[in-house]
Amino acid sequence: MNVAQIIADKRDGKTLEDAQIEYLIDGFANEQIPDYQMAAFAMAVYFKGMTLAETTTLTRSMIDSGERLEWPAGKPKVDKHSTGGVGDKVSIPLAPMLACCGVDVPMISGRGLGATGGTLDKLESIPGYRCDLSLGEFRSVVNWNGCSIASAGSNLAPADKRFYALRDVTATVPSIPLITASILSKKVAEGIETLVLDVKWGSGAFMKTLEDARSLAKSLVNVGNQMRVKTTAVITDMNQPLGRMIGNAVEVDESVEILDGKGPDDVIALTMELASRLLVSAGAAADQQSARTDLQRSIDTGEALERLSEMVASQGGDLNANRTRAKSHVVHSLEAGFVTRINAQRIGLAVIEMGGGRKQLGDKIDHSVGMEFLIRIGDKIEIGQPIANLFCSEKVANYAGNLVNNSIGTGPTSIESPELIVETF
Ligand code: URA
Repeated sequence: MNVAQIIADKRDGKTLEDAQIEYLIDGFANEQIPDYQMAAFAMAVYFKGMTLAETTTLTRSMIDSGERLEWPAGKPKVDKHSTGGVGDKVSIPLAPMLACCGVDVPMISGRGLGATGGTLDKLESIPGYRCDLSLGEFRSVVNWNGCSIASAGSNLAPADKRFYALRDVTATVPSIPLITASILSKKVAEGIETLVLDVKWGSGAFMKTLEDARSLAKSLVNVGNQMRVKTTAVITDMNQPLGRMIGNAVEVDESVEILDGKGPDDVIALTMELASRLLVSAGAAADQQSARTDLQRSIDTGEALERLSEMVASQGGDLNANRTRAKSHVVHSLEAGFVTRINAQRIGLAVIEMGGGRKQLGDKIDHSVGMEFLIRIGDKIEIGQPIANLFCSEKVANYAGNLVNNSIGTGPTSIESPELIVETF
């Protein structure tokens, strides 16, 4: 087959045959097709899109580039994926809560992307925690604890790992078929039967419009179901940070608070919504109400916190060991009025500036850095009122504080805080 012809067919808006897509991904995975041809292909897809059938074949080919986990018969295997948001730590309380309710959660997770943090970076703030498990270790942590959160390793959808890195530097990440195949190849390779997707839209999300979030959610649900994984999606609001804490160690602290029966209402509400949907789809609960009752019980009895602690210990960490938090600096409001707008992306970028995320591949993260964000859309604020606590060095506190102040818009009249759960698919 001629790779240039495959690229030309897509460039000209043709629908590719399965064999063309399979040839391309197989050749790329085996390093027979060079990066420059894959980059040209990605750009052609970016402009011309793909049909459902093409996207499904692309997803399947990426899975086939590596191993697909198989599990012995037993509890249903479920997972959730979020398209990424500022302060989104839901995976950390959700996985152990689900594991207490009759399902197993083999969760392959990612690192920070753009302004959004990554679950793996957050968990690595726990002293000793290892994300880079071998597939054998991953399997035994899931079999033992009912949940594990780890990195994809080298053999789960390896074609995606290389393709994603290439897309990242060729401005071809924001393509719905490419995002769909990238996310689902990793999730389907986990060997799960049921998946829920949290597709975020807004100032702190990848998808800046509700329309784009809808298209992505539909694509993910359609392709997921084609791959025989029972897939549902929830579109959620990301026009303000989720919860109060943004960073790494501080987000683990907030997750532990939730499992301790405390924590912010929005994170609890979203965790309950996603987890209860999964339990119903997986057949582990009759309806969402009884699922919520089971999930709440896992918190009230302390069982979910214990499960998290055991998962952490199985991966080499100690949840009770001290997680350092840098010195606190208060940010005071420069404006008065009602908060009408929060640029959540800028809040995420402030945390990166403080050292809590990466500006370049390979940058080292300072896990002690983070932010407590104190206001929500609709709140009334006064000049001089504390709006955030920054945990960072003296050196960057001023600059990051200005970014926080610049991320907030105020007006003379109050507005409703946006609903968190926007639509379900
Ligand atoms: N997350 C992924 O895993 N892949 C994408 O393409 C975008 C977000």
